[in-house]
Amino acid sequence: MHDQASVLRKLASKENNNSRMRVIAVTSGKGGVGKTSFTVNLALALSEYGRRIIILDGDLGLANVDIAFGLTARYTIEHLLSGEKTIEQIMLTGPRGIGIIPGGSGVQGLANLERNKLANVIANLGRLEKMADLLIIDTGAGLGHTVINFLKSADDIIMVTTPEPTALTDAYGLLKTLRKEAGEVPIHVVINRVRNETDAQATFKRLEMAVHKFLDGSLDFMGWVYDDPLVGRSVMQQEPLGISYPESPAYKCIQWIASTVVGIYHRPPRQAGGVRGFLSKLLRSF
Ligand SMILES: Nc1ncnc2c1ncn2[C@@H]1O[C@H](COP(=O)(O)OP(=O)(O)OP(=O)(O)O)[C@@H](O)[C@H]1O
Ligand SMILES: [Mg+2]
Repeated sequence: MHDQASVLRKLASKENNNSRMRVIAVTSGKGGVGKTSFTVNLALALSEYGRRIIILDGDLGLANVDIAFGLTARYTIEHLLSGEKTIEQIMLTGPRGIGIIPGGSGVQGLANLERNKLANVIANLGRLEKMADLLIIDTGAGLGHTVINFLKSADDIIMVTTPEPTALTDAYGLLKTLRKEAGEVPIHVVINRVRNETDAQATFKRLEMAVHKFLDGSLDFMGWVYDDPLVGRSVMQQEPLGISYPESPAYKCIQWIASTVVGIYHRPPRQAGGVRGFLSKLLRSF
Protein backbone atom coordinates (compact mmCIF):
# COMPACT_ATOMS: atom_id res chain seq x y z
CA MET A 1 0.00 0.00 0.00
CA HIS A 2 2.80 2.33 1.02
CA ASP A 3 4.65 1.57 -2.21
CA GLN A 4 1.64 2.40 -4.30
CA ALA A 5 1.12 5.73 -2.55
CA SER A 6 4.69 6.80 -3.09
CA VAL A 7 4.51 5.84 -6.76
CA LEU A 8 1.37 7.96 -7.12
CA ARG A 9 3.09 10.91 -5.47
CA LYS A 10 6.00 10.55 -7.83
CA LEU A 11 3.62 10.46 -10.78
CA ALA A 12 1.84 13.56 -9.57
CA SER A 13 5.05 15.50 -9.14
CA LYS A 14 5.97 14.80 -12.73
CA GLU A 15 2.63 16.03 -13.98
CA ASN A 16 3.63 19.65 -14.32
CA ASN A 17 5.18 19.42 -17.75
CA ASN A 18 3.10 21.19 -20.36
CA SER A 19 2.83 18.82 -23.31
CA ARG A 20 0.07 16.48 -22.25
CA MET A 21 -1.05 13.59 -24.28
CA ARG A 22 -4.76 13.02 -24.43
CA VAL A 23 -6.03 9.48 -23.96
CA ILE A 24 -9.17 8.41 -25.81
CA ALA A 25 -10.58 4.89 -25.43
CA VAL A 26 -12.71 3.42 -28.23
CA THR A 27 -15.06 0.73 -27.01
CA SER A 28 -18.35 -1.07 -27.62
CA GLY A 29 -20.82 -3.28 -25.81
CA LYS A 30 -21.03 -5.90 -28.52
CA GLY A 31 -18.04 -7.14 -30.50
CA GLY A 32 -17.66 -6.77 -34.24
CA VAL A 33 -19.38 -3.39 -34.55
CA GLY A 34 -16.39 -1.71 -36.20
CA LYS A 35 -14.14 -0.42 -33.39
CA THR A 36 -10.89 -1.36 -35.06
CA SER A 37 -11.83 -0.02 -38.50
CA PHE A 38 -13.02 3.16 -36.85
CA THR A 39 -9.91 3.56 -34.67
CA VAL A 40 -7.46 3.03 -37.49
CA ASN A 41 -9.22 5.47 -39.81
CA LEU A 42 -9.82 8.02 -37.08
CA ALA A 43 -6.07 7.99 -36.47
CA LEU A 44 -5.47 8.63 -40.18
CA ALA A 45 -8.06 11.39 -40.31
CA LEU A 46 -6.58 13.03 -37.21
CA SER A 47 -3.13 12.89 -38.72
CA GLU A 48 -4.50 15.06 -41.55
CA TYR A 49 -4.88 17.72 -38.87
CA GLY A 50 -1.23 17.38 -38.01
CA ARG A 51 -1.92 15.42 -34.84
CA ARG A 52 0.65 12.85 -33.87
CA ILE A 53 -1.21 9.68 -32.97
CA ILE A 54 -0.33 6.45 -31.22
CA ILE A 55 -2.78 3.56 -31.14
CA LEU A 56 -2.66 1.04 -28.33
CA ASP A 57 -4.20 -2.22 -29.50
CA GLY A 58 -5.97 -3.10 -26.29
CA ASP A 59 -8.02 -5.97 -27.61
CA LEU A 60 -7.33 -9.15 -25.71
CA GLY A 61 -8.70 -11.29 -28.48
CA LEU A 62 -7.21 -11.23 -31.92
CA ALA A 63 -4.81 -8.36 -32.33
CA ASN A 64 -6.18 -6.41 -35.23
CA VAL A 65 -4.70 -2.96 -35.48
CA ASP A 66 -1.37 -4.06 -36.93
CA ILE A 67 -3.14 -6.29 -39.45
CA ALA A 68 -5.46 -3.46 -40.50
CA PHE A 69 -2.32 -1.51 -41.39
CA GLY A 70 -0.83 -4.50 -43.19
CA LEU A 71 1.88 -4.81 -40.53
CA THR A 72 2.93 -7.73 -38.38
CA ALA A 73 3.76 -7.26 -34.75
CA ARG A 74 6.92 -8.97 -33.56
CA TYR A 75 6.73 -7.86 -29.96
CA THR A 76 3.88 -6.79 -27.74
CA ILE A 77 3.20 -5.10 -24.42
CA GLU A 78 3.99 -8.47 -22.91
CA HIS A 79 7.66 -7.98 -23.79
CA LEU A 80 7.50 -4.53 -22.23
CA LEU A 81 6.03 -5.84 -19.00
CA SER A 82 8.63 -8.57 -18.78
CA GLY A 83 11.37 -5.99 -19.26
CA GLU A 84 12.70 -7.67 -22.40
CA LYS A 85 11.90 -4.78 -24.74
CA THR A 86 11.44 -1.03 -24.55
CA ILE A 87 8.48 0.91 -25.85
CA GLU A 88 10.54 2.02 -28.86
CA GLN A 89 11.31 -1.61 -29.68
CA ILE A 90 7.73 -2.85 -29.60
CA MET A 91 6.10 0.09 -31.38
CA LEU A 92 5.34 -0.23 -35.09
CA THR A 93 5.12 2.72 -37.44
CA GLY A 94 2.19 2.95 -39.82
CA PRO A 95 1.36 5.46 -42.55
CA ARG A 96 1.73 9.14 -41.68
CA GLY A 97 3.91 8.23 -38.75
CA ILE A 98 1.08 6.67 -36.74
CA GLY A 99 2.53 4.59 -33.92
CA ILE A 100 1.00 1.22 -33.12
CA ILE A 101 1.59 -0.51 -29.81
CA PRO A 102 0.59 -4.15 -30.12
CA GLY A 103 -1.12 -5.25 -26.96
CA GLY A 104 -1.37 -9.01 -27.20
CA SER A 105 -1.85 -10.81 -23.94
CA GLY A 106 0.19 -8.10 -22.22
CA VAL A 107 -2.88 -5.89 -22.19
CA GLN A 108 -4.32 -7.64 -19.19
CA GLY A 109 -1.08 -7.08 -17.31
CA LEU A 110 -1.10 -3.41 -18.23
CA ALA A 111 -4.66 -2.85 -17.07
CA ASN A 112 -3.98 -4.75 -13.85
CA LEU A 113 -0.46 -3.55 -13.22
CA GLU A 114 1.60 -5.41 -10.71
CA ARG A 115 3.51 -3.17 -8.39
CA ASN A 116 6.91 -4.62 -9.10
CA LYS A 117 6.49 -3.76 -12.79
CA LEU A 118 5.34 -0.22 -12.24
CA ALA A 119 8.58 1.68 -12.44
CA ASN A 120 9.51 0.05 -15.74
CA VAL A 121 6.10 0.62 -17.32
CA ILE A 122 5.96 4.23 -16.17
CA ALA A 123 9.42 4.95 -17.52
CA ASN A 124 8.51 3.45 -20.90
CA LEU A 125 5.01 4.80 -21.33
CA GLY A 126 6.08 8.17 -20.01
CA ARG A 127 8.27 8.52 -23.09
CA LEU A 128 5.17 8.36 -25.30
CA GLU A 129 4.34 11.87 -24.19
CA LYS A 130 7.11 13.24 -26.35
CA MET A 131 6.18 11.11 -29.36
CA ALA A 132 2.49 11.92 -29.79
CA ASP A 133 -0.39 14.24 -28.93
CA LEU A 134 -3.05 11.59 -28.67
CA LEU A 135 -3.16 7.99 -27.53
CA ILE A 136 -6.15 6.07 -28.87
CA ILE A 137 -6.89 2.76 -27.19
CA ASP A 138 -8.82 0.20 -29.21
CA THR A 139 -10.29 -1.73 -26.28
CA GLY A 140 -11.96 -5.07 -26.55
CA ALA A 141 -15.75 -5.24 -26.45
CA GLY A 142 -17.75 -5.86 -23.32
CA LEU A 143 -17.57 -5.46 -19.61
CA GLY A 144 -14.36 -7.22 -18.66
CA HIS A 145 -12.30 -5.90 -15.80
CA THR A 146 -9.46 -4.93 -18.15
CA VAL A 147 -11.69 -2.95 -20.50
CA ILE A 148 -13.38 -1.12 -17.63
CA ASN A 149 -10.03 -0.18 -16.11
CA PHE A 150 -8.93 1.37 -19.40
CA LEU A 151 -12.22 3.19 -19.83
CA LYS A 152 -12.28 4.77 -16.42
CA SER A 153 -8.69 5.96 -16.80
CA ALA A 154 -9.17 7.64 -20.18
CA ASP A 155 -9.86 11.33 -20.77
CA ASP A 156 -12.71 10.51 -23.16
CA ILE A 157 -14.61 7.42 -24.24
CA ILE A 158 -15.94 6.87 -27.75
CA MET A 159 -18.57 4.13 -27.73
CA VAL A 160 -19.25 2.58 -31.12
CA THR A 161 -22.52 0.79 -31.83
CA THR A 162 -24.54 -0.19 -34.86
CA PRO A 163 -28.32 0.21 -35.23
CA GLU A 164 -28.80 -3.54 -34.66
CA PRO A 165 -31.02 -4.31 -31.65
CA THR A 166 -28.44 -6.66 -30.13
CA ALA A 167 -25.68 -4.04 -30.43
CA LEU A 168 -27.96 -1.46 -28.82
CA THR A 169 -28.85 -3.77 -25.94
CA ASP A 170 -25.17 -4.34 -25.24
CA ALA A 171 -24.43 -0.62 -25.60
CA TYR A 172 -27.10 0.01 -22.99
CA GLY A 173 -25.49 -2.52 -20.65
CA LEU A 174 -22.09 -0.93 -21.10
CA LEU A 175 -23.42 2.58 -20.46
CA LYS A 176 -25.06 1.38 -17.27
CA THR A 177 -21.78 -0.04 -16.01
CA LEU A 178 -19.82 3.04 -17.10
CA ARG A 179 -22.21 5.26 -15.22
CA LYS A 180 -21.30 3.37 -12.05
CA GLU A 181 -17.63 2.79 -12.69
CA ALA A 182 -16.53 5.80 -14.75
CA GLY A 183 -19.15 8.42 -13.98
CA GLU A 184 -16.86 11.35 -14.73
CA VAL A 185 -15.51 10.35 -18.13
CA PRO A 186 -17.34 12.00 -21.07
CA ILE A 187 -18.93 9.38 -23.32
CA HIS A 188 -19.30 10.12 -27.03
CA VAL A 189 -21.44 7.85 -29.19
CA VAL A 190 -20.65 6.90 -32.79
CA ILE A 191 -23.29 4.94 -34.70
CA ASN A 192 -21.60 2.79 -37.32
CA ARG A 193 -23.08 1.12 -40.40
CA VAL A 194 -26.12 3.36 -40.81
CA ARG A 195 -28.09 3.58 -44.07
CA ASN A 196 -28.68 7.32 -43.86
CA GLU A 197 -28.86 10.22 -41.44
CA THR A 198 -32.45 9.43 -40.41
CA ASP A 199 -31.34 5.93 -39.46
CA ALA A 200 -28.49 7.41 -37.39
CA GLN A 201 -30.66 9.96 -35.59
CA ALA A 202 -33.36 7.38 -34.85
CA THR A 203 -30.78 4.95 -33.47
CA PHE A 204 -29.26 7.55 -31.18
CA LYS A 205 -32.75 8.55 -29.96
CA ARG A 206 -33.50 4.94 -29.13
CA LEU A 207 -30.31 4.64 -27.10
CA GLU A 208 -30.81 7.97 -25.39
CA MET A 209 -34.37 7.10 -24.39
CA ALA A 210 -33.22 3.81 -22.92
CA VAL A 211 -30.50 5.42 -20.81
CA HIS A 212 -32.00 8.81 -19.96
CA LYS A 213 -33.16 7.54 -16.56
CA PHE A 214 -29.60 7.11 -15.39
CA LEU A 215 -27.62 9.33 -17.75
CA ASP A 216 -29.89 12.34 -17.83
CA GLY A 217 -29.08 13.89 -21.19
CA SER A 218 -25.34 13.70 -20.77
CA LEU A 219 -24.74 11.33 -23.66
CA ASP A 220 -22.94 13.06 -26.52
CA PHE A 221 -23.80 12.10 -30.09
CA MET A 222 -20.49 12.40 -31.90
CA GLY A 223 -21.55 11.25 -35.34
CA TRP A 224 -22.24 8.34 -37.62
CA VAL A 225 -20.54 6.30 -40.30
CA TYR A 226 -22.34 4.92 -43.35
CA ASP A 227 -22.52 1.25 -44.05
CA ASP A 228 -20.07 1.07 -46.91
CA PRO A 229 -18.84 -2.02 -48.80
CA LEU A 230 -15.47 -0.31 -49.26
CA VAL A 231 -14.80 -0.81 -45.53
CA GLY A 232 -14.92 -4.58 -45.97
CA ARG A 233 -12.83 -4.36 -49.12
CA SER A 234 -10.11 -2.38 -47.37
CA VAL A 235 -10.09 -4.92 -44.52
CA MET A 236 -9.50 -7.68 -47.06
CA GLN A 237 -6.74 -5.66 -48.71
CA GLN A 238 -5.12 -4.96 -45.32
CA GLU A 239 -4.89 -1.31 -46.13
CA PRO A 240 -6.89 1.26 -44.16
CA LEU A 241 -9.90 2.80 -45.86
CA GLY A 242 -8.44 6.28 -45.51
CA ILE A 243 -5.49 5.20 -47.66
CA SER A 244 -7.25 2.99 -50.23
CA TYR A 245 -10.53 4.87 -50.54
CA PRO A 246 -10.16 8.33 -49.06
CA GLU A 247 -13.22 9.51 -51.02
CA SER A 248 -15.47 6.73 -49.71
CA PRO A 249 -18.65 7.73 -47.86
CA ALA A 250 -17.50 5.93 -44.68
CA TYR A 251 -14.13 7.70 -44.58
CA LYS A 252 -15.78 11.07 -45.23
CA CYS A 253 -17.87 10.44 -42.09
CA ILE A 254 -14.77 9.57 -40.09
CA GLN A 255 -13.05 12.76 -41.28
CA TRP A 256 -16.06 14.67 -40.05
CA ILE A 257 -15.86 12.91 -36.65
CA ALA A 258 -12.11 13.66 -36.54
CA SER A 259 -12.90 17.36 -36.76
CA THR A 260 -15.07 16.97 -33.66
CA VAL A 261 -12.30 15.09 -31.88
CA VAL A 262 -9.92 17.93 -32.69
CA GLY A 263 -12.48 20.22 -31.04
CA ILE A 264 -12.53 18.07 -27.91
CA TYR A 265 -8.80 18.15 -27.95
CA HIS A 266 -8.91 21.91 -27.47
CA ARG A 267 -10.88 21.50 -24.26
CA PRO A 268 -8.82 20.59 -21.22
CA PRO A 269 -9.34 17.04 -20.01
CA ARG A 270 -10.85 16.50 -16.56
CA GLN A 271 -7.45 16.05 -15.02
CA ALA A 272 -4.81 17.14 -17.46
CA GLY A 273 -2.55 14.28 -16.58
CA GLY A 274 -1.25 12.99 -19.89
CA VAL A 275 0.11 9.48 -19.91
CA ARG A 276 1.22 9.72 -16.31
CA GLY A 277 -2.25 10.87 -15.31
CA PHE A 278 -3.69 7.96 -17.23
CA LEU A 279 -1.39 5.51 -15.48
CA SER A 280 -2.05 6.95 -12.07
CA LYS A 281 -5.80 6.62 -12.66
CA LEU A 282 -5.23 3.09 -13.85
CA LEU A 283 -3.48 2.38 -10.56
CA ARG A 284 -6.16 4.00 -8.49
CA SER A 285 -8.68 1.60 -9.95
CA PHE A 286 -7.56 -1.13 -7.55
N1 LIG B 1 -19.03 1.29 -41.84
C1 LIG B 1 -18.92 0.01 -42.21
N2 LIG B 1 -19.50 -0.44 -43.34
C2 LIG B 1 -19.40 -1.74 -43.71
N3 LIG B 1 -18.76 -2.67 -43.03
C3 LIG B 1 -18.16 -2.31 -41.87
C4 LIG B 1 -18.21 -0.96 -41.40
N4 LIG B 1 -17.51 -0.88 -40.24
C5 LIG B 1 -17.07 -2.13 -40.00
N5 LIG B 1 -17.45 -2.99 -40.96
C6 LIG B 1 -17.14 -4.43 -41.06
O1 LIG B 1 -17.37 -5.04 -39.80
C7 LIG B 1 -16.38 -6.00 -39.53
C8 LIG B 1 -15.91 -5.84 -38.10
O2 LIG B 1 -15.19 -4.63 -37.99
P1 LIG B 1 -14.06 -4.44 -36.87
O3 LIG B 1 -13.12 -5.57 -36.89
O4 LIG B 1 -13.54 -3.07 -37.03
O5 LIG B 1 -14.98 -4.55 -35.57
P2 LIG B 1 -14.51 -4.59 -34.05
O6 LIG B 1 -15.58 -3.91 -33.27
O7 LIG B 1 -13.13 -4.08 -33.91
O8 LIG B 1 -14.53 -6.16 -33.76
P3 LIG B 1 -13.94 -6.91 -32.46
O9 LIG B 1 -14.94 -6.66 -31.36
O10 LIG B 1 -13.90 -8.33 -32.89
O11 LIG B 1 -12.60 -6.31 -32.17
C9 LIG B 1 -15.25 -5.80 -40.53
O12 LIG B 1 -15.14 -6.95 -41.31
C10 LIG B 1 -15.65 -4.64 -41.37
O13 LIG B 1 -15.52 -4.94 -42.73
MG1 LIG C 1 -11.41 -4.96 -33.08
